[in-house]
Amino acid sequence: MTEPNAVSAAAALDVRGLVVSVDDKEILRGVDLNVPAGEVHALMGPNGSGKSTLAYTLSGHPKYIVTSGTATFGGTDLLALTADARARLGLFLCFQYPTAIPGVTTVNFMRAALRAQGKEMPAREFIRRLNEEMTALKIDESFRARYINDGFSGGEKKRAEILQMAMLRPRLSILDETDSGLDVDALRTVANGVTRLAGPDMSVLVITHYPRILEYLKPDRVHILHQGRVVTSGGPDLADQIEREGYEPITGPLAAQAAASQKSLTGVVAEAQA
Ligand SMILES: Nc1ncnc2c1ncn2[C@@H]1O[C@H](COP(=O)(O)OP(=O)(O)O)[C@@H](O)[C@H]1O
Ligand SMILES: [Mg+2]
Repeated sequence: MTEPNAVSAAAALDVRGLVVSVDDKEILRGVDLNVPAGEVHALMGPNGSGKSTLAYTLSGHPKYIVTSGTATFGGTDLLALTADARARLGLFLCFQYPTAIPGVTTVNFMRAALRAQGKEMPAREFIRRLNEEMTALKIDESFRARYINDGFSGGEKKRAEILQMAMLRPRLSILDETDSGLDVDALRTVANGVTRLAGPDMSVLVITHYPRILEYLKPDRVHILHQGRVVTSGGPDLADQIEREGYEPITGPLAAQAAASQKSLTGVVAEAQA
């Protein structure tokens, strides 16, 4: 194994007690989350639990106001940095709804993004790598000249996002519902694309509502967000449990009762059934 390069190696994301408001409404209410360097973690939770809010906050979107708590990446205080500086540090966010940029081709966009991060490469190498990645992601050649995300189908946008990730080689990728709206073939291609890059060079936080992508993108840990807090964490079997039983046993009234009475959930469920 080669020694990971200090600049390009994955690093740990550490979020503690993060409280975030949007338009004066408190959405995140004390999020604790640790993704060690090189691991793949899943953040799951019902709709409206605050998953996208966390992703936008970590990316540095100005609309998301942090009122307390910390977020560090490789020990660097993320919250003190602009969105640009966070990207240069190696943070990459795949948005749930990628924006189209009419007039900017996929190729030019990618070259500009690499240049902005000081990762410019000679044109021939750039084209060679781009072709390689496009083949791996089963992206049609015509994409190179098309305007980024303009008129792309849902599946095409997601592949284009993973293509950016593959070219930029971030140290941490946060994928927000990258699986939504993908058919099973596109899902597998996208998940394989991420899996290929995950490891010593790149940690991954995959945000998803549905456990299906986790069949292809094996997480080391799974965290459940509910009402702006991580309420439970576990191994990959936690995703299997949600597949079988839904979020209700974790987020429903019985779970709240168990938390309030400090009894185990199984105990409360047994009492309720008795
Ligand atoms: N601009 C806003 N003003 C008020 N509430 C918002 C705003 N944006 C999002 N929310 C609320 O924040 C909560 C979390 O949203 P979000 O982070 O998108 O959840 P998720 O991604 O888990 O579905 C939701 O209840 C949503 O209605
Ligand atoms: Mg969301």
